[in-house]
Amino acid sequence: MTKLFTPYTLREITFKNRIAVSPMSQYRAKDGYANDWHLVHLGRFALGGAALVYAEATAIEADARRTHGDLGIWEDGQIEKLKQITSFIAQEGAVPAIQLSHAGRKASERRPWHGETPVDDEDVAERGEAPWQAIGPSAIPYADGWPTPLEMSEEDIQRVIASFGQAARRSLEAGFKMIEVYAAHGFLVHQFLSPIANKRTDGWGGNAENRRRFAVEVAKSIRAHWPDTYPLAFRLSATDWLDGGVEVEDTVETAKALKAAGVDIIDCSTGGIGGKDRPRRMVIEQGFQVPFAEQIRKDADLPTMAVGFLWDAKACADLISNGQADMVALARELLDDPNWPLHAAAELEADENHAAWPIESGWWLMKRDRLLKKLGLR
Ligand SMILES: Cc1cc2nc3c(=O)[nH]c(=O)nc-3n(C[C@H](O)[C@H](O)[C@H](O)COP(=O)(O)O)c2cc1C
Repeated sequence: MTKLFTPYTLREITFKNRIAVSPMSQYRAKDGYANDWHLVHLGRFALGGAALVYAEATAIEADARRTHGDLGIWEDGQIEKLKQITSFIAQEGAVPAIQLSHAGRKASERRPWHGETPVDDEDVAERGEAPWQAIGPSAIPYADGWPTPLEMSEEDIQRVIASFGQAARRSLEAGFKMIEVYAAHGFLVHQFLSPIANKRTDGWGGNAENRRRFAVEVAKSIRAHWPDTYPLAFRLSATDWLDGGVEVEDTVETAKALKAAGVDIIDCSTGGIGGKDRPRRMVIEQGFQVPFAEQIRKDADLPTMAVGFLWDAKACADLISNGQADMVALARELLDDPNWPLHAAAELEADENHAAWPIESGWWLMKRDRLLKKLGLR
């Protein structure tokens, strides 16, 4: 059996295969509250055979949202609907996970289909959605034309670290079995890690060790509220793809520091620290971020998840069996085909006669296959 379809265990949580649903923001929440959209969106991936289903970037404070539509976990009332979602995912044999997020200087942004530009008075007129003040490690805007964030005070930093811990407590109550911290794509934790966004001269900046301190403190704060038996992941941008930014060698050191703080796996993405233009060094091809997962896995001696432009079942199976990563995470391919893991299992001969499908559909598909074969139709 190809290793892609063998179980994998982190702490005391076992995934039935190595396939994760990468976090995908839906911008469909109201005041941070989940609804039936999130239940169906995430639920269908559990039915489709993925072992790990990540809920999207979920704000740990109201102002930590990127857009007005972001999911939130900053108040206890938000737990109830999330509980229904985790219960469904777990009942269908997948592990429910949550990505905890603070947008930092990227807060107060329009949804992608409203322009992915800063919220302003136009949004108040059109949707009753007002802009709010963003914060960041330094008073440097995300890109030209973006508002300048307020530089976080020591009090702000301690409050946000504590909010990550409280969000972990709520995640546990909501039934999640794994947490991932969104420390990539130019969001707050990444802003602290990157010399491009962090120009502080106190204990939270000035050198690589200080810049990684915020991420480490966030990990510790979460671990204080999160069971030893449950895994903790960090999604890192392995490189900023920009001169003067984070390079993979820095990320290896960050991964080692996070490992010492109780982190179990690094989800290896890249980019996003500033502006919407693709950096010149970033060349996109199938699996272009896999080498980072491989290097971090080897040099930091920590499990990794590979993500980004993966869609071919054989390529995913190969990268797992070659030891380049321990899991794969897919996003857009799963939007196109939520049953991708089940189809991949058939293609790689890890499933026969739709046995891996929920019986409510697998039964009929197996019978149809038999009939089609008998009639020589397919
Ligand atoms: C609709 C959509 C929403 C996304 N939202 C998030 C998110 O909330 N958190 C995150 O870390 N990445 C987010 N991403 C990035 C994906 O998780 C993934 O890293 C990226 O799309 C590359 O993988 P793919 O080529 O399989 O789509 C999003 C991507 C899409 C398509």
